[in-house]
Amino acid sequence: MEFKKVVLLGGGVLGTQIALMSAYTGHDTTIWLRSQGSIGRTEPKIKTYKEKILQALEGSKKLLKNPMGAYLYPKGLISKWEGLTEEDIDDLLAKGKKNMEENLHLELDMEKALKGADIAIEAMAEDPQAKIDLYEKARDFLDEKTILCTNSSTLLPSTFAESTGRPEKYMALHFANEIWAHNTAECMGHPGTSQETYDTVVEFAQEINMIPIKLHKEQPGYVLNSLLVPLLDAAQHLWAKGVADPETIDMTWRLATGAPAGPFQIIDVVGLDTVYNIQQNKPSSQDPDSLDYKILQMVKEKIDKGEKGASFGKGFYDYKK
Ligand SMILES: NC(=O)c1ccc[n+]([C@@H]2O[C@H](COP(=O)([O-])OP(=O)(O)OC[C@H]3O[C@@H](n4cnc5c(N)ncnc54)[C@H](O)[C@@H]3O)[C@@H](O)[C@H]2O)c1
Repeated sequence: MEFKKVVLLGGGVLGTQIALMSAYTGHDTTIWLRSQGSIGRTEPKIKTYKEKILQALEGSKKLLKNPMGAYLYPKGLISKWEGLTEEDIDDLLAKGKKNMEENLHLELDMEKALKGADIAIEAMAEDPQAKIDLYEKARDFLDEKTILCTNSSTLLPSTFAESTGRPEKYMALHFANEIWAHNTAECMGHPGTSQETYDTVVEFAQEINMIPIKLHKEQPGYVLNSLLVPLLDAAQHLWAKGVADPETIDMTWRLATGAPAGPFQIIDVVGLDTVYNIQQNKPSSQDPDSLDYKILQMVKEKIDKGEKGASFGKGFYDYKK
């Protein structure tokens, strides 16, 4: 199928990244925003992520002679690494810049934004009632053909299927932060999603240079977080119990599995605020005698000192050095 028009509902961190990837790969892309104020918040994000995408491409020139290059190159931006030259990267830079500039539009009028869309991806705040309100408004403007997806990280598509008015054409398509480098797209239907919709969404994911991760049924946390959250939890338990320090825990994981980063290095990238929020939502973390409560306090202590992760210069590790 040809995806002539792609729409993002919401222009936050993920909405702008998905929109840029869609534009980069040559698709006419519209971000619907709810107010003039949202435009003022979204435009700088587009600028920042566009620059990061172009920097990632430029930076991959250095990787051409690096034996680790084949692992480290930005897979969402470069389809084939083998045989790639500096001139090829210059071509990708020129084409990518032009595509991102020409194919991306912002729109406040929801009806106009959604008109003729082949696929619309909801990427607004993780608030179930706000999402329902949005779907109930959007259902009157969606074309018969439009497939609707949610990028929600923690909410299941079956929660919203009925409010969309098109349960058979609705499912989750979940991207990772820094989509141009971490190019997984988790495809997850609810029991009422049609096979045709599912297959089309998988095809769309591939069209925008993502690797589709196909889930056969609904799973909170999809595949990635079903694996990652228990690992990060286990690491924090070892730390809070005083069994070993974060550096030792990370080193063990790296040496024993060959993984490039240990759990505390991953936490630093995710950001300690997010880890704190997840921890706080666990009922056991409210019990002052529990280990989860102790973890919550230990994480909070670091946040209070400004040690909030890699993008803040310090987390479990110091990135200023
Ligand atoms: N941040 C991540 O790492 C990440 C990764 C994968 C998936 N997600 C998911 O993507 C979605 C968006 O997350 P984000 O990190 O981009 O959030 P964000 O806070 O950066 O952006 C949210 C967007 O929703 C808009 N919005 C908020 N309330 C709204 C409303 N009532 N009506 C219309 N628009 C509204 C905001 O203006 C903003 O454009 C969430 O469902 C989240 O679970 C986030």
